[in-house]
Amino acid sequence: MAQDLRRIDAGAARALAMLLLQRLGSPPEEARVVAHHLVRANLTGHDSHGIGVLPAYVAQVEQGLIVPGQQLRLVADADALLQFDGGRGFGQVMAERATRAAMARAARLGASVMGLRNAGHIGRVGGYAEIAAAEGMAFIAFVNVADIPCNQAPFGTSEGRLGTNPFCAAMPGEAGPALLLDFATTLIAFNKARIALEAGRPVPEGALLDAAGNPTTDPTELVVHKRGALRSFGLHKGSGMAVMCEAFGAVLTGGQRADEPEHGAVSNSMLAVLIDTGRFGSRAAHIRGLGAVADSIHEARPAPGVAEILLPGEPERRAEAERSAAGIPVPVTTWDRLLTLAREQGVAPAELSRLG
Ligand SMILES: NC(=O)c1ccc[n+]([C@@H]2O[C@H](COP(=O)([O-])OP(=O)(O)OC[C@H]3O[C@@H](n4cnc5c(N)ncnc54)[C@H](O)[C@@H]3O)[C@@H](O)[C@H]2O)c1
Repeated sequence: MAQDLRRIDAGAARALAMLLLQRLGSPPEEARVVAHHLVRANLTGHDSHGIGVLPAYVAQVEQGLIVPGQQLRLVADADALLQFDGGRGFGQVMAERATRAAMARAARLGASVMGLRNAGHIGRVGGYAEIAAAEGMAFIAFVNVADIPCNQAPFGTSEGRLGTNPFCAAMPGEAGPALLLDFATTLIAFNKARIALEAGRPVPEGALLDAAGNPTTDPTELVVHKRGALRSFGLHKGSGMAVMCEAFGAVLTGGQRADEPEHGAVSNSMLAVLIDTGRFGSRAAHIRGLGAVADSIHEARPAPGVAEILLPGEPERRAEAERSAAGIPVPVTTWDRLLTLAREQGVAPAELSRLG
């Protein structure tokens, strides 16, 4: 079933998100940061973590599972180590503030290790890597997902025991990341199953198990009834990464684990390592080295059926170039739903009509 799409300008998407978030109780700066990260996810091609999550955020604020206006709380400060508690504040704000604090520490000491526990949904993890990379910092993050029914079946299991636990690693280039690896440790992210359901599409073969542990390509049971589970990518290797995301992201930071009782809205905890790459020698030499690695891979003989060889971060850069120019393709039903939600939350019709 083809979906009707409408190209929405990034500025209009940000403006709508900000209007809605402020009606939910977010101060303007908080609304700006959340809107920025959501729309960056859309711009970089990850609609799963873009403005389409706002209806869920509205419900979670109403249930007290996201706390607008929350302050990031410093829990421990020991030289290169910083530990924060997000108190279920908007995850994008908690993660950006914690990342910026860790960047300042890494700029002073050469590197820092930052723990952030119990934030709301932090969305696209790569957004924080981009902020760090813009200042010449490498960024490595292990993130866990808790407080929702477990939706990752680790290797060898036939039911959910973890969340989709994303991993992210980035090396800076001239401006922003030269390489940016950022993915869920499940074959597809949960929100990509939601997008597939909304578009009436199956999920890829091998990605999903039903509640009985049998393979299925129908995302309905997972997305609507929160039953069944996504399979880890890469057999025991991806599954092992997911376990380490739980270990570093939640156990080490003191965040909520996936095995603890859940309340129905994502809580993310993250361990991030930031490295001021200039302390390892010349940044220009690193950039030349990264270019040589990239050239060597790009020039390889493509595998059968592969039209073009890409490196981590390249699909996102291309999506951003295309969508910045032509607008973000948003299903008409999603945009209409957001406008309705905004009206229901008390946004004035005149403000909405200005969005175009
Ligand atoms: N906050 C959370 O709880 C949470 C949970 C899971 C995922 N996420 C986010 O969801 C987003 C999407 O995750 P995903 O698993 O769907 O990502 P994905 O499967 O699209 O993989 C993305 C990664 O693979 C690279 N890539 C994609 N195609 C490539 C190709 N052809 N050649 C080389 N590299 C390629 C990209 O550059 C990127 O680094 C991520 O931003 C992640 O942080 C967040």
